[in-house]
Amino acid sequence: MAEQQAASPITRSLAGQSEERLLTLFFGLYKTARIIEEHNTMFLRQCEMFFDLLKQIGRNQPTVMIKIVAERYFVNQQMVRYDDELAGALTVQTEWAKLGIGGVQFDADIAQSDIRRFFPAVSQVRPGADNLNTLKAKLENIGLTGITLLSAKDVETELPEAAEDVRRHFRTMARATFFTAVSVMQEVVVSTTQQREINIARTKRVVHSLIDHLARDESSLLELTAIKDFDDYTYAHSTDVCVYALTLGGRLGLDRPRLSQLGFAALFHDIGKAKLPRDLIRKPDAFDEDDWVQMQRHPLLGAKTILRNMKLDMHTARAARAAFEHHINMDFTGYPTLRHERRQPALFSRIVSIADTFDALTSGRVYMKKSIPPDVVIKKMRFQMQVKFDPFLLKLFNDVIGIYPAGSLVLLTTDEIALVLTNNEQDRARPYVKIVGDRSGLLQTPIWTDLSLPENESRKIVRLIDPVRYGLDAKQFILSD
Ligand SMILES: [Fe+2]
Ligand SMILES: [Fe+2]
Repeated sequence: MAEQQAASPITRSLAGQSEERLLTLFFGLYKTARIIEEHNTMFLRQCEMFFDLLKQIGRNQPTVMIKIVAERYFVNQQMVRYDDELAGALTVQTEWAKLGIGGVQFDADIAQSDIRRFFPAVSQVRPGADNLNTLKAKLENIGLTGITLLSAKDVETELPEAAEDVRRHFRTMARATFFTAVSVMQEVVVSTTQQREINIARTKRVVHSLIDHLARDESSLLELTAIKDFDDYTYAHSTDVCVYALTLGGRLGLDRPRLSQLGFAALFHDIGKAKLPRDLIRKPDAFDEDDWVQMQRHPLLGAKTILRNMKLDMHTARAARAAFEHHINMDFTGYPTLRHERRQPALFSRIVSIADTFDALTSGRVYMKKSIPPDVVIKKMRFQMQVKFDPFLLKLFNDVIGIYPAGSLVLLTTDEIALVLTNNEQDRARPYVKIVGDRSGLLQTPIWTDLSLPENESRKIVRLIDPVRYGLDAKQFILSD
């Protein structure tokens, strides 16, 4: 991994230790200024260190900028390594996103006293009442002219090349997280089948990694859900459902504890299948009636497995309910058949149901044994099957997936073939793509490009293409750069 990174273009753009320390102090000061007085000794000491570093970094330039581009931190033009040691990084990122702030620019010749006044001014915000403009006015009112807050828009458009490095970096990280989740799922299923204890802590940890990754970069994980030809699809299916469910949960604004429970429930939704004969689960042909009767036991078996084998807490209680309800539709069709009409399925069950149906139909591996293109599945779910799902959640899911889902292949008007990388919510017909082939065949070096850029005016998407029909290996395009 380390070797791989050394050769990647990101390493070249990574900042040095001073920049890293400057950011660490920045996050620290942001937090400290919220909770302690301005003349607190620790705060003053941190301000002094921040000031010294600022002078050092800014000695040959008029300004020093701290900014977030494509969800990564930069000091001036250099990306700063982001890891968990940068405590507070995510807090600032989340807060800035809400306020519309993309960065802050310090004049290199500012006074140390300005630093001391800056942090309390920006970190003590009124939720819902403050935004970029009110904070700018606040700085102006206290005479802080040497420090400028920048809007997210201004900053984002500034560094397209670095942003591309960032995208690649995220994709590598997404893969590591995704495949860890798949292997954790495999371990869970094997433990369940062999009646061994399930490693709950590890499962929760992997859900948290998925939540963290999704907070910074949804599309790389969504792209991986497009790979359907896994050797053992069962484990990838639960991971896919977890990624979709967490993405929906994120859009709903669920807090972290709830997201964690939702992700956990999604991973365990089909755990009941581990209690069914393996031949049935892996049956290559369509199910006969007998198979169906067997298969329809998995929700109840799942709920029982969770409740019997795991300690009861919010995670397991909600997971058991989602396992039991994920095939019960909003119109009460589905299974298990309920003797009496009862309450609608819980929110988590409704989310899992949508995620599960989408993944099952697009993969063609679970029940239908025939895959359907994602756009057709979305249409099917929104029109033919709409009474089965929560309409609001379904609409939200449609927004997440877009018309050309991340990980799908599209044909362009230029006769090029491209892999969709990121859904562009401003213009869903023009996503960010990787062009992998043209009339003469597959490209040696794929072209990464944003179809919404003016230079791509002539490159319009004609339609989604089925990789199998073209003899293309979509998995290879997704996993290679
Ligand atoms: Fe299921
Ligand atoms: Fe499922």
